[in-house]
Amino acid sequence: MKKTREFDIIIWGASGFTGRLVANYLFNKYGINGDLKWAMAGRNLDKLKLIRSEVANENVPLIVADSNDEVSLNDLTKRASVICTTVGPYAKYGSKLVDACVENKTHYCDLAGEVQWIRKIIDKHHESAKSNGTKIVNCCGFDSIPSDMGVYFIQNDVRNKNIKIAKHIEMRVAGVSGGISGGTYESLSHVNEEAHKDKNIFKVLINPYGLNPGGEQEGLDKYDLRSVVFDKSSKNWIGPFIMAAINTKIVRRSNALNGYSYGKDFKYDEATLCGKGLFGRIKGIISTIPLAIIMSAKPGSFVKKIVDKILPKAGEGPDKNKRENGFYNLRFYITYDDGSKDVAKVIGDMDPGYGSTSKMLGETAVCLAKDQLSDVSGVLTPSVAMGDKLLIRLKNNAGLTFSFK
Ligand SMILES: NC(=O)c1ccc[n+]([C@@H]2O[C@H](COP(=O)([O-])OP(=O)(O)OC[C@H]3O[C@@H](n4cnc5c(N)ncnc54)[C@H](OP(=O)(O)O)[C@@H]3O)[C@@H](O)[C@H]2O)c1
Repeated sequence: MKKTREFDIIIWGASGFTGRLVANYLFNKYGINGDLKWAMAGRNLDKLKLIRSEVANENVPLIVADSNDEVSLNDLTKRASVICTTVGPYAKYGSKLVDACVENKTHYCDLAGEVQWIRKIIDKHHESAKSNGTKIVNCCGFDSIPSDMGVYFIQNDVRNKNIKIAKHIEMRVAGVSGGISGGTYESLSHVNEEAHKDKNIFKVLINPYGLNPGGEQEGLDKYDLRSVVFDKSSKNWIGPFIMAAINTKIVRRSNALNGYSYGKDFKYDEATLCGKGLFGRIKGIISTIPLAIIMSAKPGSFVKKIVDKILPKAGEGPDKNKRENGFYNLRFYITYDDGSKDVAKVIGDMDPGYGSTSKMLGETAVCLAKDQLSDVSGVLTPSVAMGDKLLIRLKNNAGLTFSFK
């Protein structure tokens, strides 16, 4: 679906920490007078002007839209082919924007990692977006592009060789360096808050197939890892990986939306490599403590107040040095149907959450706006919506490498 609209892309939330990085990426990579027509949007014009002067120049158009103002969202979504949003927590501010995108047949991409909200969006919009040709694509940052596109890359390679079937893939985080922003922390806290209030939300969060289509929420995979255990595939101690909660569900949704092209009995899980021997085990136990504290801190509790003080506030996040010197290294341990094994890797050249994420989200938006994609529509995952076209952009422009070891 190609539309001629005033803008190819509008970045909504461009005054926020991640949104301004996306704007800066588009400005440096695609400029403002070239083939890509784009604009920055947010709720506060003065703040947008200030951020624009830091990350771009005055030729970038600015648009005001507030999550509480449906008229402004309707106008925003009518003016662009793609809305790229970094306004989060999405469960608080994102729903009316998706309503307007589906209504106005505007493609959409975001950085939501909020499983309970994505479930609501699927239930409300998948069928209508599917029938009117709109692509709504969640999870276009570190969660969950490296996981979703990593598995897509492996399965494509295996299919092309036409010899074996990759039955089981275990993603292990072998190395990561970066930080967290205030917006990400607020989104995590919001998920936690909603899960404490509503048992049904908690059930969606822990269901391994919680983002699969209705009636297709069963399979061989179990809950995400919650303790430190010895892993036979990597021959290391492994511990929980915080993003597994969303990434594994996205990979399973991709499989389901593709008519189970990875197989109905395909298994997938994620964890963090902690090392070998006693050292690896102790490192694993110690590294789970901060996560356990953040996730168990009840709303309003003393622990939550302390964590709130320590972690960054809205608009704050890792500095340039931390972003540019950051990286991630993900290994995918593959078991084929004949029992043989292989290892693939996905590597990112900047910190996962912001440096790399802003490039992944920027390229996703450009891919949705400019590339000749298949007609598939609905509430989709990155690999289902964009497939090879996105893979090429990630490799060529976003600093990701996909390879077999
Ligand atoms: N999946 C990933 O890998 C990944 C990575 C990074 C971030 N994220 C997610 O991205 C989101 C943003 O994170 P961040 O650190 O960039 O947060 P942030 O700095 O707090 O930015 C939030 C943005 O939302 C805007 N906003 C807040 N309320 C609004 C409203 N009522 N109407 C319109 N705009 C409103 C803010 O506007 P003002 O500037 O005017 O306050 C700001 O531009 C979070 O949900 C985070 O979890 C995900």
